[in-house]
Amino acid sequence: MASKTIAVVGATGAQGSGVVRAVLAAGGDEFTVRALTRDVTSAKARELAELGADVVAGDYSDPEGLAEAFAGADGAFLVTDFWTHMDPEKEQEYVRNLIDAVQKAGVRHVVWSTLEDTRELIPVDDPRMPTLLGRYKVPHFDAKAEADEFFRAAGVPTTFLRTTFYYENLADALAPARDETGRLVLTIPMGDAPLAGIASGDIGRVALSIFRGGDAYIGRTVSIAGDVLTGTEIAAALGEALGEPVEYRPVTHDQFRAFGFPGADEYGNMLQYYTDFADEFTGPRDPARVRELTPEVQSLREWLATGYRLPTAA
Ligand SMILES: NC(=O)c1ccc[n+]([C@@H]2O[C@H](COP(=O)([O-])OP(=O)(O)OC[C@H]3O[C@@H](n4cnc5c(N)ncnc54)[C@H](OP(=O)(O)O)[C@@H]3O)[C@@H](O)[C@H]2O)c1
Repeated sequence: MASKTIAVVGATGAQGSGVVRAVLAAGGDEFTVRALTRDVTSAKARELAELGADVVAGDYSDPEGLAEAFAGADGAFLVTDFWTHMDPEKEQEYVRNLIDAVQKAGVRHVVWSTLEDTRELIPVDDPRMPTLLGRYKVPHFDAKAEADEFFRAAGVPTTFLRTTFYYENLADALAPARDETGRLVLTIPMGDAPLAGIASGDIGRVALSIFRGGDAYIGRTVSIAGDVLTGTEIAAALGEALGEPVEYRPVTHDQFRAFGFPGADEYGNMLQYYTDFADEFTGPRDPARVRELTPEVQSLREWLATGYRLPTAA
């Protein structure tokens, strides 16, 4: 039987490149992979081509080009990139373009990378966290959840893959930093609540499992995590990996939102949502169940063992 083609949007990014690599690692008998990018000549695009992906041009803002890029594909992994513009309406316009394109191409199974609508648990008039951009609590969550309905309304055969916090954030914006005494401190406003995390590349491994599962997954929501750990537990794991103690020193959500970096208010709201609604957010993200679908999904310690470094000379 001829292999099926999976087209991957965001193929040079954290999630999409995980899908591309997972498909290539599985060998070409079952699936071949097509990687969409705005720039087929970039270093990341060339690396994917060298690994064996069919790299083609595709831009969220160009519906005709997207339809061409998806032509002949059996499956499509779709993710939109909120953070380059931080505009939920633009993110949704891009989702509509992607939906038009997969429909024109007759794609038979879409895996859509999405998140919860936080307003189901904390409505916009709830004063416990600020409302952002007029009608959102966590815009990059809420916009994706609203877009779930676009797929349903258009009748696209879709699996809704609910992702979570990447472990990679712990090597980047949320990495431990030294305090004035030189001690490494992990500053995440999570109190004693657990954080559901995943290696971003493992999202692609789960997506491949879903494509393998085929029709049985259409219409279903799959919520994922590789580990669910408190701040104290995360600090202990980071300390082991670094060979040096890391202290968990949580701040409040208001303190975090006041840090002032671009998106601090949104990030603070997201972490407050994780904290205040741990049962609802973390509950469905059971790593043991995720591993029944995709055994290779890594725990935090397994991911750290692949080579954890602090971002700068911390
Ligand atoms: N960070 C986290 O912890 C986390 C957790 C869960 C979910 N998310 C969600 O993940 C999403 C981003 O995915 P990611 O982290 O995989 O991305 P990423 O690593 O930041 O890379 C961005 C990707 O988006 C593509 N892209 C950007 N603008 C595009 C356009 N106009 N047309 C086509 N492709 C475009 C880029 O492709 P080219 O540059 O090659 O064109 C690149 O592959 C965000 O919306 C965020 O909400 C993040």
